[in-house]
Amino acid sequence: MQTTVMGRVVGYDERGQGTPVILIHGFPLNRMIWEAQWEGLMDHARIIAPDLRGFGESEMVEATTEVGTYADDVRELVNALGITEPAIIVGHSMGGYVAMAYLRRYPDHVAGLILVNTKATADTIEAQAGRDKNIAVAKEKGADGIAEEMLPKVFSPKTYTSNPELVAQVKRIMQSASVAGIVGALSAMRERPDSTPTLLEFSQPTLIIAGADDLLMNAADQENMKLAARNSTLVTVPDAGHLTPMEQPEAFNNAVIEFLRTMVRA
Ligand code: MLT
Repeated sequence: MQTTVMGRVVGYDERGQGTPVILIHGFPLNRMIWEAQWEGLMDHARIIAPDLRGFGESEMVEATTEVGTYADDVRELVNALGITEPAIIVGHSMGGYVAMAYLRRYPDHVAGLILVNTKATADTIEAQAGRDKNIAVAKEKGADGIAEEMLPKVFSPKTYTSNPELVAQVKRIMQSASVAGIVGALSAMRERPDSTPTLLEFSQPTLIIAGADDLLMNAADQENMKLAARNSTLVTVPDAGHLTPMEQPEAFNNAVIEFLRTMVRA
């Protein structure tokens, strides 16, 4: 569905009741990556999944220059939905960068964090050069160029060969992103700060979900987050690449449900 928040059209879905759980997608994706989470999670919490500006059904209003802008957008949607209690913020990859920016900006509104296929550290010089290259690709070839560049990197070898429907679905999602949205996100990721100090100050429960075959985030990235967030658990999912919620939905949902149970028990 769509709503208008602060004069901006925002696409989002909402299902279930109870603790608010906000699902923030990665790049260059949209809220459709959470399809398998609706069925799996809606009996356990109130699930809300927005499209970030410039992706899915959310309009791109002005250039995004920092990940904090997305965090503000999410916060405005949460406010517009009348949610006053602290939420569990779930971020996939770039969505993880946004989740950590949300924590930095709205610490009192975070009850727990789930960091999925992501990392806390900032871009290296090399990674920043890669952003510049991809900005040029997006301007020249559009979303198709970015999809072509990213698609082979986001799946585990097993998924890539055994699940062509999923590969085709993710390709369509990537191709649907707007060029302005892609360029904004690449610029924001390029400039994002190191979130390790943010995690060091966070004492609420944190779940880190990694893909054992993630080609974009390595095991050291995961260990770094686990060490920084003192109340954290790391779950590494076998046969999952960079898209654990889509590649291994059952294992992903089970880890989230177990985390929600522990939070209720605490
Ligand atoms: C993502 O999946 O959101 C991006 O690959 C993250 C990144 O490029 O740093």
